[in-house]
Amino acid sequence: MDNRPIGVFDSGVGGLTVVKEIMKQLPAEDIIYFGDTARVPYGTRSRDTVIKFTLQSVRFLMSQGIKAVVLACNTASAISLEVAQQQFDVPILGVIEGGATTAVRATKNKRVGIIGTEGTINSGAYEKAIKSLDDSIETFAKPCPLFVPLVEEGLQDSEIAYMAALEYLSFFKDKSIDTLLMGCTHYPLMADTIRRVVGAGVNLINPAEETALILRRVLARIDILNDGANPPQYRYFASDDGERFKKIGSNFLKCHISSATKVDIERY
Ligand code: DGL
Repeated sequence: MDNRPIGVFDSGVGGLTVVKEIMKQLPAEDIIYFGDTARVPYGTRSRDTVIKFTLQSVRFLMSQGIKAVVLACNTASAISLEVAQQQFDVPILGVIEGGATTAVRATKNKRVGIIGTEGTINSGAYEKAIKSLDDSIETFAKPCPLFVPLVEEGLQDSEIAYMAALEYLSFFKDKSIDTLLMGCTHYPLMADTIRRVVGAGVNLINPAEETALILRRVLARIDILNDGANPPQYRYFASDDGERFKKIGSNFLKCHISSATKVDIERY
């Protein structure tokens, strides 16, 4: 047993969709969340920059005495998971494995679409993970950069979001996919709009669910689950002012965030 918190990192508020799943699957665990809101988005940044920002963020979480880290950000997971795993001596998980596993399980016709930021799609990380599980699966990947700002503005169910989804997702029209992997923290909030475009016959995959299950397995295997003696504590940190984090974050988490502490991330 180990009652230290789990650290969850994202480029901004989107990783709270992963926190929500961790709260559900691991209700006894304390969580410390860091959102790099001063430097979001990561999705359009270079590989070197994403790695640098990720390592700084994990260093901050380590300074808070965490026992494991989840890179909730798809872009950070796709680009910097291995580097982070080599640098720190706590278990570090990304979201790619969970998303790929669920997509492979869900597809019947072995044709899987992947959507994410430019960074995630250009890295090819989801394709690689899917192929390593089943190399007979065909993948089709498309970045959807406008989805992130639309969700952050609370416009995920609007006609503008629908138009953007029509534009991006027309790429999949002739691909006969039966599964679409939503490879970005923000996209599960757009699921209704995405569903309107792709139709009822396509499985929509949210990597967060399986990621929380994998985390539970990892903590159990090395015997560092929380003993549950105390009610769980959740603490939120952000690199920019906490007010916007609280406002947008509460929408992602579907519950009120009462405080978010500002961190000078350049110090780490
Ligand atoms: N959190 C990012 C991801 O899941 C989306 C926002 C960004 O571009 O930083 O890829």
